[in-house]
Amino acid sequence: MADLATLLGELERLVQECATQLGQASSSEELEAVRVEHLGRKGRMAGAMSALPSLGPEDKPVAGRKANEVKARLTAMLEARQTELDRAAEAEKLASFDPTLPGRTPPVGSLHPVTLVTREICDVFAGLGFDVVDGPEVENDWYNFEALNMPPDHPARDMQDTLYVTDSIVLRTHTSPLQVRSMLAQKPPVAVVAPGKVYRRDSDLTHTPMFHQIEGLLVDRKVSMADLRGTLTAFVRRIFGPETNVRFRPSFFPFTEPSAEVDISCVMCGGTGHIHGETCRVCKQTGWVEILGCGMVDPNVYGFVDYDPELYTGFAFGLGVERVAMLKYGIGDLRMFFENDVRFLSQFS
Ligand code: PHE
Repeated sequence: MADLATLLGELERLVQECATQLGQASSSEELEAVRVEHLGRKGRMAGAMSALPSLGPEDKPVAGRKANEVKARLTAMLEARQTELDRAAEAEKLASFDPTLPGRTPPVGSLHPVTLVTREICDVFAGLGFDVVDGPEVENDWYNFEALNMPPDHPARDMQDTLYVTDSIVLRTHTSPLQVRSMLAQKPPVAVVAPGKVYRRDSDLTHTPMFHQIEGLLVDRKVSMADLRGTLTAFVRRIFGPETNVRFRPSFFPFTEPSAEVDISCVMCGGTGHIHGETCRVCKQTGWVEILGCGMVDPNVYGFVDYDPELYTGFAFGLGVERVAMLKYGIGDLRMFFENDVRFLSQFS
């Protein structure tokens, strides 16, 4: 028969030895090893308790109570040591941390110059009462050409280097289909600007297969060429400064009559053609740079959208956003817009 005193002594010794081992344990792994050795399923506690069944009936409850107490003490000791180790680790981390160091600010992005200029231009027209609208980049031939007075065999279709999706679906070659879509969507008065991407089969130093345009359209009773002139002059001066001059040159577009191209006095040389005695490369010494095409909406177009050409007149214009951005920011190379070089882009925040 096992002896109660031996068992109790054994349990007490276990506590002492566990305390000693814990004092030496310096990591969570070592702590776990100590726990397994003492409290594990095959540990010393379990080993000592295997004597329990052979104790006398009056000794069993005494041994049981002692066992529970020892188990609780061991558990508490292990937990206390773990807390101690955690604190030490935390203190060590804090010791190597300098709270007076300045913080690291996360880099803040900036808008692409095309986005900036698009927004600025649309804001100017919104201020003049124009709505900002958009439409599909994959467009029906009918909107891109036919309803703009360009029947199937019209030479302007070649001129535009169209990218075809199918025989009757194209990547829009200009934002002008938004003229048609806007007029079909509402009755006059119509005043809209439509920014967006356009596509042409064209790629060299000064042309990219995708670029951005902004279309403008105003149709109402008694809209005249003078309104076109006044609106575009006001717009140009808002974007390029009040001293900028504007010149209208006769031109041709199938969907406007008469048509014009608009030049502004060169923003690089102030219209003089020279910078510090050297030839201005932006305007090639002419003092003028082209920025947009425009005209009075051709009465034929009204036929396609069911507007009465006897009642209504209007003007339309289309401008290249990259071109305006180049002039506004003095960017010499069109490719800059498409290379996504952060050193370039971050200059426009
Ligand atoms: N859509 C023409 C182009 O891309 C520009 C334009 C728009 C001309 C509106 C006149 C009126 O070249």
